[in-house]
Amino acid sequence: MSASVRTAVFPVAGRGSRFLPATKASPKEMLPIVDKPLIQYAVEESIEAGATKLVFVTGRSKRAIEDHFDTDAELEQSLTEVGKDDLLESIRGIVPSGVSCIYIRQGEPLGLGHAVLCARPAVGDEPFFVHLADDLIQGSPGCLAQMASEHRNHGGSVVATETVPKAHTSSYGIVEVDDADRLTAIVEKPQPEEAPSDRAVVGRYLLDARIFDKLETTGRGAGGEIQLTDAIADLLVESPVYAYSFSGRRFDCGSKLGYLQATVAYGLEHPTTGERFRAHLESLIRG
Ligand code: G1P
Repeated sequence: MSASVRTAVFPVAGRGSRFLPATKASPKEMLPIVDKPLIQYAVEESIEAGATKLVFVTGRSKRAIEDHFDTDAELEQSLTEVGKDDLLESIRGIVPSGVSCIYIRQGEPLGLGHAVLCARPAVGDEPFFVHLADDLIQGSPGCLAQMASEHRNHGGSVVATETVPKAHTSSYGIVEVDDADRLTAIVEKPQPEEAPSDRAVVGRYLLDARIFDKLETTGRGAGGEIQLTDAIADLLVESPVYAYSFSGRRFDCGSKLGYLQATVAYGLEHPTTGERFRAHLESLIRG
């Protein structure tokens, strides 16, 4: 049995060039799906999984993220005055009491592995989550809660995976596993003919803190960046890493198509828009 995971790391320094011009002055993590920004879904998923310390690894043009998770006394006051209790509730509960936010700046754009390494002073020696907000996962319980439960059963590190078309392996970390789903290899973005399988890592990790020592020494990999995948490849030699096929539906909100698909899926389930949105989509289909 392993202890609960209390820290979640959110690498949010990336510029989001696939969404320009929308991301010229605003962080891609602040793009909304219906009425909540992607980073809020990320934070809610990690809190549901037991995280109480949220570490954001930020960069240029990311101030809006800090503001979003800060209290806004002026806004709260004006909503109170006009009696908009539902809206007041929606902004007050974003970060529940007992949960703290830490912001660390990633000075240079040296990749995901480097971003995770920047979080080291705030994480310490305990296992921690890494959550990539671009990968939005609709699931109940959430993907990180599912992974935390796996971790409680067998310890070690856990990476969330899903099967992808072989032609897409070059967009993901790809794993090779044994009969117990323990990783025997992991490769960053291999071409289909070199990929060890069609099982891809998506943006959820539960990592043993020994990963930091690996990140210190792993050096630059694919794309000249310090890759988290390469450090996991070093870690699995001495400490077990498991692949976990989560239950739920993933949307790649780093791509325009995935973002639109997520908007439709969450719009259909939203308590205030769902019914009318469904009627609208049905009328579009009927023509
Ligand atoms: C990163 C990782 C990759 C992983 C992917 C999941 O890539 O490097 O191993 O499969 O996230 O979304 P990125 O999408 O940042 O290029």
